[in-house]
Amino acid sequence: MVIFLIIILILILIFAIIFLASFIFAALSAAPWLPTNRRQRRRLIELISLKPGQIVYDLGCGDGAVLFSLADKYSEAKFVGFEVSLLPYLIAIFRKFSRYNKYKNVSIKYKDFFKQDVREADLIFIFLTTKCYPRLVAKLSQEIKQNCLVVVEAWPLPDLKPINYIKEGGFMSLYFYQSAQFKNNN
Ligand SMILES: C[S@@+](CC[C@H](N)C(=O)[O-])C[C@H]1O[C@@H](n2cnc3c(N)ncnc32)[C@H](O)[C@@H]1O
Repeated sequence: MVIFLIIILILILIFAIIFLASFIFAALSAAPWLPTNRRQRRRLIELISLKPGQIVYDLGCGDGAVLFSLADKYSEAKFVGFEVSLLPYLIAIFRKFSRYNKYKNVSIKYKDFFKQDVREADLIFIFLTTKCYPRLVAKLSQEIKQNCLVVVEAWPLPDLKPINYIKEGGFMSLYFYQSAQFKNNN
């Protein structure tokens, strides 16, 4: 019985270490997990429009808060989230499979978004810390496709003038960029 308990405790410890390590990796790579709140998501939905078949990437999708909110409105668009922190990733997977028929158009991938080619995205959503911006902008400048819209929450990208931005009390700022700006930055 004691040995059994020790094995369970060791397993719990191993899982805790793996979860913590993935959280630390994400925080060091681009940002810790902080979901976009509901009011902010509603505001975002009001500000963008998606056509059927368009593809949205959320680079660091957390628990999928933004993707699932968008998928609620745009059932004919496609949503792909990339996440490396295990806890939010598993929550996002649970949310997808708990309403599988509704969220068939949402994919959640356990992947470092820096290793993902973003060429197919029509809209890229970013809510990350500024420390990863130089690397991210360099990546987008290489890969972004024509007419892709980049929406950045919280802090603007360096050296790029947004085509539009929203700063309102009670909301994090939202900055809108177009792919041509990244190409000119190259
Ligand atoms: C501030 S949260 C934003 C979550 C989500 N986009 C939202 O708005 O609700 C940033 C997320 O990026 C994830 N992340 C950080 N670095 C990453 C990387 N290199 N690849 C994939 N995900 C990453 C973190 O784990 C975290 O969940």
